[in-house]
Amino acid sequence: MEYSNRTALITGASEGIGRATALMLAKRGVDTVLLDVKEDRLLSLEAEIKALGRRALAIVCDMGDETAINAAVAKANKFAKIDILVNNAALWRNECKPFVNTSPESWKQRWMVNVWGLMYLTQKLLPPMLEQRWGRIINVSSVAGRYGIANMVDYSTTKGAVHSFTKALAKETSPYNVLVTSVSPGNVGNGQLLQNELSYIGRESSYDEQAEMICFLASENASYCSGQDFQVDGCRKKM
Ligand SMILES: NC(=O)c1ccc[n+]([C@@H]2O[C@H](COP(=O)([O-])OP(=O)(O)OC[C@H]3O[C@@H](n4cnc5c(N)ncnc54)[C@H](O)[C@@H]3O)[C@@H](O)[C@H]2O)c1
Repeated sequence: MEYSNRTALITGASEGIGRATALMLAKRGVDTVLLDVKEDRLLSLEAEIKALGRRALAIVCDMGDETAINAAVAKANKFAKIDILVNNAALWRNECKPFVNTSPESWKQRWMVNVWGLMYLTQKLLPPMLEQRWGRIINVSSVAGRYGIANMVDYSTTKGAVHSFTKALAKETSPYNVLVTSVSPGNVGNGQLLQNELSYIGRESSYDEQAEMICFLASENASYCSGQDFQVDGCRKKM
């Protein structure tokens, strides 16, 4: 896969899919700006990437906080021109419960990180991409946004919004070669076995299996992919 001296900013980079994506991009020659709330893990990832011989910058940033995002964008712009944005951070490890038992406060918290923060950061990083006529924006969504998951109504709602944002923004930016896509993982983890309706492959995906799709969409090779969702769900039944 080709990347030609690009720099990527990845949100939620400390763990899981974000961490796997940052490491995979770095191994393929991309410099990285790493955003997360978990400082220790972020700093150790920064060190790991630098040891690979690539430039990396860790920035502690809460994606629900406008002031923190503004400060992060200023630091990132000093470090490099951002060509690739991977909007991966999300609040999803909430307890599952029926919608009637959820609180408006929790909907708001999830919305601020999963949708508002994603939109705010994208708007800040978009103008230079449009100007240079090259950009890749990959939004990590979920099968929850495609099908809706019971007892995760507020989360499913935010991921549905990420799909709509992707499709609408892509129509504005694709003429400028700023390509916008989303990736919808199914169940991700350590390969635990799953029932057929969750994956006919029969297991969870690894974090690297999700990162592979994100890294492809971030590359030069994905030059005709925009406005679409790419579902990486191991052949899941529509539920
Ligand atoms: N793991 C799954 O089964 C699964 C399935 C479908 C979709 N997804 C999506 O994939 C993405 C990554 O999920 P994951 O499984 O790697 O999750 P994770 O919880 O392991 O990692 C998410 C990262 O985001 C960070 N984060 C959380 N809140 C933040 C905030 N306010 N500001 C900045 N960073 C913040 C966390 O610290 C963490 O490092 C998310 O968008 C999630 O919705 C995951």
